[in-house]
Amino acid sequence: MKYATPHRFAPASSAGFLSALACAAALIAAPAAQAQDAAAGQTKAAMCIGCHGIPGYQSSFPEVFKVPKISGQNGGYIVAALAAYKKGERKHPTMRSIAMSLTDKDMADLGAFYEKHVTSDIKSVSTTPQPSPAVAALLTKGACASCHGADYNKPIAPNYPKLAGQHADYLYASLRAYGTEGNPNLGRANAIMGGQVKAFNRAELKQIADYMASLPGDLQTVRQSPFR
Ligand code: HEC
Ligand code: HEC
Repeated sequence: MKYATPHRFAPASSAGFLSALACAAALIAAPAAQAQDAAAGQTKAAMCIGCHGIPGYQSSFPEVFKVPKISGQNGGYIVAALAAYKKGERKHPTMRSIAMSLTDKDMADLGAFYEKHVTSDIKSVSTTPQPSPAVAALLTKGACASCHGADYNKPIAPNYPKLAGQHADYLYASLRAYGTEGNPNLGRANAIMGGQVKAFNRAELKQIADYMASLPGDLQTVRQSPFR
């Protein structure tokens, strides 16, 4: 499977070094964490590619939006998201039933696989578009960069998501989901983001989502063939 080769190693910058250190520290601090096996994850990803391996693929129920890009996403966040679907903290019905079939080891392997699952031909974009003054004010109000990183592509913790370049309609749906309660098919219970989104109305969340989606970042949908 030719796509699996990781081409995107952190440059030998101090930031890369520090995040490598942070990862190492996290591994040492969490001895109970599952050993990750990206090769095993690749095999398990066969049940994901029908949606996450088709660029621009739309979900249909309960809402229509583009299936999120998960290639290049933080592995720790992929595990956290899958665990939240399995526990029912995230209610999306299809992802719930898929996550129910996964063990902790499966999730760890899938996280390890997708984090490195990027093609070499991604953006050589050098400049990050600046937000409009209105959007800048919203981002400042939410202190979004304090967790998701200055360019929204380098979150401060491995279990926090990269947002830069994610589909705008998906980001908007996910932001609304954090503010949705009492619906059996929609919603995400997350203390941090649940508190965040309360401060904004829908039009503001949409503007934020559109801006995040316009940013260059690691996230991709890598086209995958079911035949290997
Ligand atoms: C039938 C289509 C479909 C299949 C198959 C599928 N997914 Fe998903 N996935 C989705 C949709 C739609 C969402 C958005 C759900 C939501 O709104 O919370 C999603 C969300 C996710 C998320 C959260 C992304 C984020 O940014 O928070 C992860 C992680 C994920 N899927 C991983 C997987 C893995 C791993 C597999 C295979 C084991 C898989 N999915 C199979 C459709 C699918
Ligand atoms: C205190 C840290 C923190 C702050 C501040 C914060 N976030 Fe988050 N954000 C998180 C965490 C942690 C998650 C993952 C939650 C989960 O597991 O569902 C998240 C998830 C998200 C997601 C879902 C991504 C996906 O792929 O589904 C979006 C979108 C998002 N945040 C946008 C924002 C925006 C916009 C702001 C500012 C208004 C913001 N966040 C402020 C920590 C933070």
